[in-house]
Parts: sequence; structure tokens; C-alpha cells
Amino acid sequence: MITLDKRLSAVAALVRQGSRLADIGTDHAYLPVYLVQAGVCPSAIASDIGEGPLDAAHRTVTENDLTSEIALRLGDGLSTVSAEEVEDIAIAGMGGETIAAILEAAPWVQNEGIRLILQPMTRAEDLRRWLLTHGFSVLEEHLITDGRHLYPVMAAEYTAAPPCEDEVAIYGGFFTAEEGRPYRQMMAEHLLRRARGYYHDGDFVTVSRLTDLSDLLRKM
Ligand SMILES: C[S@@+](CC[C@H](N)C(=O)[O-])C[C@H]1O[C@@H](n2cnc3c(N)ncnc32)[C@H](O)[C@@H]1O
Repeated sequence: MITLDKRLSAVAALVRQGSRLADIGTDHAYLPVYLVQAGVCPSAIASDIGEGPLDAAHRTVTENDLTSEIALRLGDGLSTVSAEEVEDIAIAGMGGETIAAILEAAPWVQNEGIRLILQPMTRAEDLRRWLLTHGFSVLEEHLITDGRHLYPVMAAEYTAAPPCEDEVAIYGGFFTAEEGRPYRQMMAEHLLRRARGYYHDGDFVTVSRLTDLSDLLRKM
């Protein structure tokens, strides 16, 4: 039985019981192998853009005797999957802007019944902005702490919500107040560093916007 680290365990916890999964950027295919072994997913697609990662996925799937349940696909993003094949889509361990680009290229992610489980390693704000401006709602978001690293993990679905650019949600996330405190502190620092850059460029409007947002996040 595969065991997952804290970060991938949090991703796995948001996958729905009985759903067919696509794991995009699967690398070693630990997530789909774990979910099939745990009886959460009857089947899964493990997809990656790289041949090396897909070879690693092939080894994990074969060693765990799951070649009938887990299909391996080589290609960019969701181009390897069709809408009828899955209900839940996991995209973890990439930059938020890469995850957003993968979703943008597959309009069927808006279909009813599709759930996204997303774990950006960097630039989570880019991903939240994309979701909020494309009719998605973030159902829940959790913060995983591993050593010095903070990992956001979120579940989202298309709800045709009106486009919104709520900067507090985009930068501060959808965590509960207590769970998200370390993330908001980290983001407040990040926004202050960005503000200093704009100060040197003489863009005082942006300095003021970023500083206000930083203060708000720090005090929440
Ligand atoms: C750091 S690994 C993450 C592996 C696993 N998902 C996790 O969270 O531990 C990122 C993987 O995403 C793959 N990847 C990057 N861009 C991709 C894309 N556009 N489509 C599919 N896979 C991609 C890389 O080849 C790599 O195997």
C-alpha cells in the first residue's frame, strides 16, 4: 500500500468517494495508486507531459498491480483526457499560473459534476484569480505545513458565479480564519516586498494598494 506525504494526503482527502480521477502532472502516480488502493476511486488516469515522469508512473502502477484500473497518458495538461472519462481532476505540485493555463485550455472543466482539486506550489494567487474570474467557486481550502513550507490545497467547482476580483480572497485564500493565519502573514510579507519594488519605480498608487492589502491580511 502506497503512503502519501502530508501534502498529497491533503489532496487525496478532497477527492470524492467513487469518483473517477484524472491526476494531471502525476509524476510517480502516487496519488492515483493510493486512491485506487484505498477504495476511493474505482479507476484513474495518470497523465504527465514528461516521458521520465510517465516512466516512473508506469513503474508504480505496475509494481502495485493496478494496470487494469489506472491508465497512463502522455501529453500536455487535460488534452489527454476527455470530459466523459472523469469526475474529479487533481492538479498538484505545479505553479498556480501553470495550473490556471491547463484549466483555461480545457473549457469542459466547467461541466456539471466536475470537481477540481488543486495544489499550487507557487503563485496560488494567480490560480485563485483565474478561478474567481471564470465562474468557479472554491468549496474549501486547507493549509498544509511541512517544515518551513506552506502548501495551499483547494477544491473548486464551476458554479457560474459572477466574475469577482476580491483581492483579499485572491491573496489570503479561502482558509478558515485560524487555519489561514500563517499563510496570510507570509502573504503580507510578500506583498510588502513587492510594494518596496514599486516604491523604487515611483509607482506610488501600486505601493499604496499593496501596502493596504498587506496590512489587511496581517490584521485578519
Ligand atoms: C513536481 S511534479 C508534481 C508531482 C505530483 N503531482 C505531486 O504533486 O507530487 C510536477 C509534474 O508536473 C508535470 N507537468 C508540468 N507541466 C505539465 C503540463 N502542462 N501537463 C502535464 N504535466 C505537467 C511535470 O512533468 C512533473 O512530473
